[in-house]
Amino acid sequence: LHAATLGLELIGVPVGADRVEVDALQRLDADVLVLTPSHQWPTGAVLSAEARTAVVEWARARDAVIIEDDYDAEFRYDRAPIGAIHGLAPDRVAYAGTASKTLVPGFRLGWLVLPDALVEPFAAAKLVADRGSPVLDQLTFADFLRRGEFDRHLRRLRPVYRARRDALVAALAQRLGDLRPTGIAAGLHLVAWLPDDLDETEVVQAARAHGVAVAGIEPYRVAPATQGGLIFGYSSISESAIRRGIDLLAEAIAGLRSGGPSPRA
Ligand SMILES: Cc1ncc(COP(=O)(O)O)c(C=O)c1O
Repeated sequence: LHAATLGLELIGVPVGADRVEVDALQRLDADVLVLTPSHQWPTGAVLSAEARTAVVEWARARDAVIIEDDYDAEFRYDRAPIGAIHGLAPDRVAYAGTASKTLVPGFRLGWLVLPDALVEPFAAAKLVADRGSPVLDQLTFADFLRRGEFDRHLRRLRPVYRARRDALVAALAQRLGDLRPTGIAAGLHLVAWLPDDLDETEVVQAARAHGVAVAGIEPYRVAPATQGGLIFGYSSISESAIRRGIDLLAEAIAGLRSGGPSPRA
């Protein structure tokens, strides 16, 4: 959205479970590729090693830049850390990190590791955009990092989020076994694909009528949907509330499937 307001033309590139379709990319006249390779937003897919090499080769051949938006890889549960694409091609990749997922979105601090040639233009653009981020906040964060508190914070929270994720995955398996969760190994949300008989918009509305806030995947697509899906953010919900929420969602979906009026609508 922001790119569009800046007058950039946005084009979607098809992505699979662990890849970007480089053939499709080759056909586009793109100068910049934006990726969330360690936890694709929103599906949670991880870009494979082959796909990483392929996009770097594409960028080199085209003299293009890759923006690696590494927004929520710090919380990972069942997988080893994944190296950044930036490490493969520091001259081609602008790496972006944020404190929004690990600390709080309202902190409004993030960071970029840029190819040398982009440092000056980015500094100039940042100056025009907001004249720079708050110095006290940056110093506080630097101190937090230096004292090892940030690492301790991640270690403390990882089991909390893992337990919430496990509660969500278990409740989905128990109450809504034909929804297919994906991207569960990291991050603070998961996507569950809907079976063909369920319409995403109807499910989201029925869930809301039952008091459950769950988002559909459609607003995040560039191309029209081929399959419906629900996005579950679990970081700020207790395990018991997660179980209750899935019970309510299961009731809402049962109401849709029976074709009758939803009991609480
Ligand atoms: C794909 C993606 N990138 C980055 C961010 C973080 O953005 P910001 O650092 O502006 O809060 C988010 C936030 O949810 C996101 O979904």
